[in-house]
Amino acid sequence: MAIMRSDKTVLDLLNELIELEYEAIEAYEAAVGRVAESRDRARIEGFLEDHVRQVSELCALVRQLGGEPAGASDLKQMLKRGKVVIVALFGDRKVLEAMKVNEAESERLHARIAARPHLPQPVRTVMRRHLATEHRHHTWIVDRLDARASQLRL
Ligand SMILES: [Fe+2]
Repeated sequence: MAIMRSDKTVLDLLNELIELEYEAIEAYEAAVGRVAESRDRARIEGFLEDHVRQVSELCALVRQLGGEPAGASDLKQMLKRGKVVIVALFGDRKVLEAMKVNEAESERLHARIAARPHLPQPVRTVMRRHLATEHRHHTWIVDRLDARASQLRL
């Protein structure tokens, strides 16, 4: 993700979020097939559905504001840069750690957009709702990693 600058428009920021969402979807799709524990897999499938819904809402918002949503092809560029290396990772812990980084970034970007002054109301409403979802995802992943770390210490 590019470094966020104050001169970016809301449309630019929403398109950054869209790129992040595509990245999350790709990563979660990879994770679903790699996490061995069925309970964790079910949670990750739920998170994947959240991200599919979110990207669709973000694309609608961008169009509503007269912009053109970032395409999934941008994701390929990010993958080429090696940002998402999940396909090369093995083990539930590594998958969860990769998810944690992605969720933290998403949560941070949503919060920064939500904090902007003069934000159109529909954007603010969607940012707040998505932020709550991203916080839930991030918290769950952090808890699962902590629980696994505790198990290993026993
Ligand atoms: Fe998420």
